[in-house]
Amino acid sequence: MELYEAIYKRRIVRDFKDIPVLDEILEKIISAGMQAPTHDHLRNWEFVILKDKKDKENVLQFIKKGVEPQLEILKRTLKEGTAQQKMYAVAMPRQYSMLYNASHIILPFFKSNHGVMHPSSVSSLNPLSSIWCVIENIFLAATAENLACSMRIPVGDEGLNVAKVLEVPDNYLLPCYIGLGYPADEKPTIEQVLYNVKQKIHKGKW
Ligand SMILES: Cc1cc2nc3c(=O)[nH]c(=O)nc-3n(C[C@H](O)[C@H](O)[C@H](O)COP(=O)(O)O)c2cc1C
Repeated sequence: MELYEAIYKRRIVRDFKDIPVLDEILEKIISAGMQAPTHDHLRNWEFVILKDKKDKENVLQFIKKGVEPQLEILKRTLKEGTAQQKMYAVAMPRQYSMLYNASHIILPFFKSNHGVMHPSSVSSLNPLSSIWCVIENIFLAATAENLACSMRIPVGDEGLNVAKVLEVPDNYLLPCYIGLGYPADEKPTIEQVLYNVKQKIHKGKW
């Protein structure tokens, strides 16, 4: 697939077919992730891959399965909300299933330093910024393979708990969970917020 086609086709998907992704394709995608720019030239990134249901359950136990109290609100915002609210209404009830039902869960860990959690400037966040370059490469490579990804940011202690059950060294952090799989044929279409690129470009001065 041509690069621009993959960029425009990439979407976060939260419903998957029950078809496994081959190991060689998974490796190709992670390898594309590893080509990302890196703030320290070291590419201090490690990937925990989960395929078996038991391993997935072990890691996903920290995500609340249901969003029952919010369901009525979600149903209403799904129909009447803004584009952002509609996206949340689709996404929130799927936070567990979009990872559990994906062929694989990819957990990208990055080597952290004190500055990441206590930044004094934007550059303190470099390890975090670098891993997000990796993550976008993974999304684009998955799209090029006619696959798709879901993604969740761990909230509260979720990331630390996941790292603990996986026996990840202390100085590695989890920026997000990625679900990788073949996108389902039947899935909600999520309205995108429209923008005009010409209005986003400020020539010479804002
Ligand atoms: C930093 C970041 C955090 C996100 N967190 C979540 C999340 O926790 N759960 C989720 O389902 N989607 C999450 N998303 C996906 C967004 O909802 C999605 O990218 C957005 O709606 C735009 O849709 P698109 O990626 O399909 O273009 C996140 C995306 C980004 C970039």
